[in-house]
Amino acid sequence: MSSPILALGRSNFGDPVNTGKLLSQEEALALLNEWVPNDRLRLHMKQVGAVMKAWALEKEGADEFTARKWEQAGLLHDADWEKYPEAHCRIIIEKLEALQVDPEVIHCIASHGPRYFGVEPNNTMDKMIYVFDELSGFIHAAALIRPTRYEGMDVKSILKKLKTPSFAAQVNRDDINDAISRIDTPLEEIIQFIIDHQKDVR
Ligand SMILES: [Fe+2]
Repeated sequence: MSSPILALGRSNFGDPVNTGKLLSQEEALALLNEWVPNDRLRLHMKQVGAVMKAWALEKEGADEFTARKWEQAGLLHDADWEKYPEAHCRIIIEKLEALQVDPEVIHCIASHGPRYFGVEPNNTMDKMIYVFDELSGFIHAAALIRPTRYEGMDVKSILKKLKTPSFAAQVNRDDINDAISRIDTPLEEIIQFIIDHQKDVR
């Protein structure tokens, strides 16, 4: 869910001295609960966090710490969207800098919408949050209109909806295509991965 507004005007985030530091999962969830009263938006961030973590572990061979880093970026990427829409994602970036979080997490959040924030994704974690963000929200929107939700959902139906401009019209298809063009994995495989890994997130 990125339809912001604000170029961040810088490309360095966080302090290298904080490399290796993350919030605990409890701290990250507490921040989310405090900053994001909206259940649907909170679920979106939990879903992106879960998909990021699963991708790191299953596709990148990440160790536990790296997987937590991917998860934390996903979990907090829109944390300021509800309270500070005009300053998204500057506020969450400044908060995580103050909390001395690993600079890669902060850069990842800063690069989840290059057309808006003016920060290019430069490593795999950055590229994957950009890939997953809009598609995750889109797939969840598709699940919500199905009586059986995720049960029996297939990739073809999602591809068809992507070609239907009136469905989830706020999801920018150009962003999805741009994100996919930066990675080697086909869109079909990404959609299936998202379905499999976000369907049980609560
Ligand atoms: Fe998002």
